[in-house]
Parts: sequence; C-alpha cells; structure tokens
Amino acid sequence: MPDRVSRELAGTRFGRVEWVAETGSTNDDLLAAARRGAPDGAVLVADHQVTGRGRLDRRWEAPPGSALLASVLVRPEIGVAVAHWMMAAAALALAEACETVAGVATRIKWPNDLVVERDGKPVKLAGVLADSILDGDRLAAVVIGVGCNLTWYPPDLDATSLAAEAGRPVDRDELLVAYLRALDGWYSRLRAGGVGELRASYVERSATLGRRVRAEIGDGPVIGAAAGIGPTGHLVIATSEGDVEVAAGDVIHLRPEP
Ligand code: BTN
Repeated sequence: MPDRVSRELAGTRFGRVEWVAETGSTNDDLLAAARRGAPDGAVLVADHQVTGRGRLDRRWEAPPGSALLASVLVRPEIGVAVAHWMMAAAALALAEACETVAGVATRIKWPNDLVVERDGKPVKLAGVLADSILDGDRLAAVVIGVGCNLTWYPPDLDATSLAAEAGRPVDRDELLVAYLRALDGWYSRLRAGGVGELRASYVERSATLGRRVRAEIGDGPVIGAAAGIGPTGHLVIATSEGDVEVAAGDVIHLRPEP
C-alpha cells in the first residue's frame, strides 16, 4: 500500500518512495537517476528484478513478490572512506526492522550479510549492495540496495526467509517503513557525529568478530581470528604471521580449533 508507506515516512528523508512491478535492478535504476540529478533520499522498490545484482558480481534472484527489494539514493557530503559505513547503516537498519516487525533476531556477517545462526553456522536472510558515484575524492552519490528474503530463499544455499524464521507471513510494507525509518536515523547520526556510534552497534551485532575465519582474497586464503573492524570497515584478521586487513571478499566462518 504505497500511500500508507509514504504517509508513515513523512518527516524522514525517505518519504518519496517509487514502486515498480518489474525492473532490471533497483540499484541500476537509481544510479541512472542519480546521474540525472535525482535528490538525496530517493527510494525505489520493485516487486521483481530481472537482472538483480549481488556483491562480487553475483546475481541476486527472487521470484516476483517474494522479497523486499529496495534501493535508496543518498548524497552524503562525506569522504569516500565513510562509504562503507553507509552499507553498515543499511545492514543495521534492516536488522532492527526484522526485529521490530517480525521478532526475528539477526546478526551481521562481515561485511554486510544479515544472518541467523543455526548450529553455529550463519544462514543468510538478506544482503546489501552499495554503488558509488565519485566526483574526484568526493562521494557524489551512493545507492544502497537491500534484498531481504520474505517468503522464498534459494534452496541450494545456506539461506532462509523472514517468514520461515518468524513462523508467520511478514508484511513487506511494514518492513520497508521500519527499515527506512531506522536508516534515516543512522544516516542522520552518521552525518552529525561520525562513525563512532554506528561502529559500536555494528560490532555488537557482528556474527563474525571473535570467530576463526577464512577470507578468500586475491593473494590466497587468510586464516585466523576475526579480531576487529578498522576505521574504514575493513576486517582485521589476526593470523600466526600478524594482523591482515581484508577490504572485500568472502569470509567463511570456521569451527573453533580443537
Ligand atoms: C548480496 O548479498 O550480495 C547483496 C544483495 C543485494 C540485492 C539488492 S536487491 C535490491 C538492489 N538491487 C540490486 O540489483 N541489488 C540490490
């Protein structure tokens, strides 16, 4: 019910919500809109994407109406180094929304996957993808897209849906409103006071910190203890040869050493 959504978002920067039944990718659409001058706070929601994108050049697929597929455009007037924290803000906001709307507690697997933990293993519920437009060393725009499985999840991956976790259907509009309200709050705090509070909340919600992990990066795997999050969101892994900072890639949670 888009009218209700816009009403409930009045007073936030995300009050202008556009809906489409089908598109390629909501992130791609908002990137194009950003290049045409679309303002801070634009939101695009789709029932279905035919070329939805995930991190690391993967595809993001979901049957029509089975997921929350939403992107926001922000023009944050902050340095490029802070871009990571916009993604973290989206992951935290979505985690908070899953909790308030569906009563489902999630954690964040580095960098920004929302997971529930089953038998000590992370099971993916949602993901975040950010695309930036740079103007020199300034962030002219960031498009942050979230995909959250509501009723369906890919059967061949370690994945789940919000309905499966809640044990009941979850209203997509309610989740969207709660997510955008929470994101509005985090975005305001990030602009006003820097990354401190956001980083602390991210660390508290991390499913990765404190675990033995293997990161797959260009030079080969890095194995060690996930020890911290650096100022620009990099994962610090303590290995037998010292600390290694991982900027991007996949991290696998390993069993603790016997
Ligand atoms: C990931 O876990 O790899 C990130 C998935 C992000 C998917 C969302 S769905 C809405 C937005 N549009 C896209 O094409 N991707 C993001």
